[in-house]
Amino acid sequence: MSSSISYKDVKKTFTGSQVVHALKKVSFKIEPGELFCLLGPSGCGKTTLLRCTAGLESLTSGRIFYDETDVTTIPPFRRNIGMVFQSFALYPHMNVFENVAYGLRVRGVDESTVKSKVTQIMDLVGLPDVLERNPSPTALSGGQQQRVAVARALVYDPQILLLDEPLANLDAKLRRHMRAEIRRIQKITNVTTIFVTHDQEEAMAIGDRLAIMRDGLIEQIGSSDEIYHNPNNAFVSNFIGKMNFFSGQITSTQGERYTVKLGKEDYTMSFTPKVAPDVAVSEGDRVTVGFRPEHLKIKPVSTNGEMQGRVRIIQHLGQVIRYEVVIEEQGQERTIEIDMLGLVRGVGEGDLIAIEFPEQVGFLFAEGGED
Ligand SMILES: Nc1ncnc2c1ncn2[C@@H]1O[C@H](COP(=O)(O)OP(=O)(O)OP(=O)(O)O)[C@@H](O)[C@H]1O
Ligand SMILES: [Mg+2]
Repeated sequence: MSSSISYKDVKKTFTGSQVVHALKKVSFKIEPGELFCLLGPSGCGKTTLLRCTAGLESLTSGRIFYDETDVTTIPPFRRNIGMVFQSFALYPHMNVFENVAYGLRVRGVDESTVKSKVTQIMDLVGLPDVLERNPSPTALSGGQQQRVAVARALVYDPQILLLDEPLANLDAKLRRHMRAEIRRIQKITNVTTIFVTHDQEEAMAIGDRLAIMRDGLIEQIGSSDEIYHNPNNAFVSNFIGKMNFFSGQITSTQGERYTVKLGKEDYTMSFTPKVAPDVAVSEGDRVTVGFRPEHLKIKPVSTNGEMQGRVRIIQHLGQVIRYEVVIEEQGQERTIEIDMLGLVRGVGEGDLIAIEFPEQVGFLFAEGGED
C-alpha cells in the first residue's frame, strides 16, 4: 500500500564546528503512488530531506506524516521504507539471492515466501537469469547491480521508496535506459517514490512532479512542463531547461506589453513576456529578461540598433544547431545559446551576428536572481 508523505515546516540544522541550516522551512505533500523528483544543486539539502523522510536524521523542528500518521519520532527500523543510495553497496560476501532476500529475513519472513518474493521481484527488474546463476554481486555489471539494489529495496513491499542519485555511477547510455526502467517498475508497484538527482534531464524524464530546491528551501513544485513554461524565478528557469539572461531596464509598459532597454548598446525591444511571480515591474525598474535558446534567432548584421554578438561555437545537436554567441553587457562578456533549426547561411564561427528577439514570448524576472 502506498502512502502520501507530508512535510510541515520541516527544519534541519546541523550544529557542529559550523552551523548549517540544511533545511530551512519545507512544507509540501507527495501523493500516494507518485514518482516525485527532488532536483537542485549540490549542497541544497536533497539528501538531508531524504534522510529526514526515512527517520535517519532527526528534525530540528516540524513534522513529517505518512498518510495521517505522524512519523516524526518513529525510528527508521519501525518504518516500512525501501532505500537505494548513490553508492548502492550490495553485500559482496552474499550472493544475489541473499542480497535481495535480506530485508525479508530481518523481518522474519518464512523461507517459501522469501523464495517466491525474491523470484517475483527479480523478474520485475528484468534479471531472472542472474538469479538463476546467483553469483556474487561483484560479478555483475553496473546496471545489473543497480537493478539488484532496486529489487532489494522493493522486495518487502515498502510503503515508500527513496532513491538518492541511484544512477550516478552509470554511464550516460545506461542511465537513460535505467531511468526508464525505474519509471516502469515504479508504475507497476505504485509505491510512493522520491528520486533525488542533480540532473535536470533525468528529473524531467522520470518524475510525475518535481521540486526544485535551493539552499534548504523548495523554490517550486510542479510537473516539468509547468515549471518549464511558468518558472517562479530566474534560478528555477535555468534549472529546468536552459535560459539566456539579459539585464535590462523597463522604459515603458502598456498592458501586457513591455519595452525594455537591453545590453551595453542600449538596444530597445518590445515584447509580451510571462512575468514571474517574484517580480512586480514598473517603468524605470531594472529586471532580468529571459529567453530560451529556441526563442532567439541569428541573422547577419544589417542595420543599426540591433543587439550584436560574436559566434563562438557552432554545434550540430541532431534536431537543432546550437550557436554559442558572446555578447557584451555592462563591460562583461556573457555567453548565450541560440538554437536554430538549420544552419544560417553565411555565418561561421568568429563572425559578428545580430540577435533577433521574439515579440510574443520570453520572461521577466527580478534583477539578479539567476544563481
Ligand atoms: N551530518 C552533517 N553534518 C553537518 N553538516 C551536514 C551534514 N550532512 C549534510 N550537511 C550539510 O547540509 C547541507 C545539505 O547537504 P545535503 O547532503 O543534504 O546536500 P545535497 O543536496 O544532497 O547535495 P549533493 O547533491 O552534493 O548530494 C550541506 O551544506 C552539507 O554540508
Ligand atoms: Mg546528496
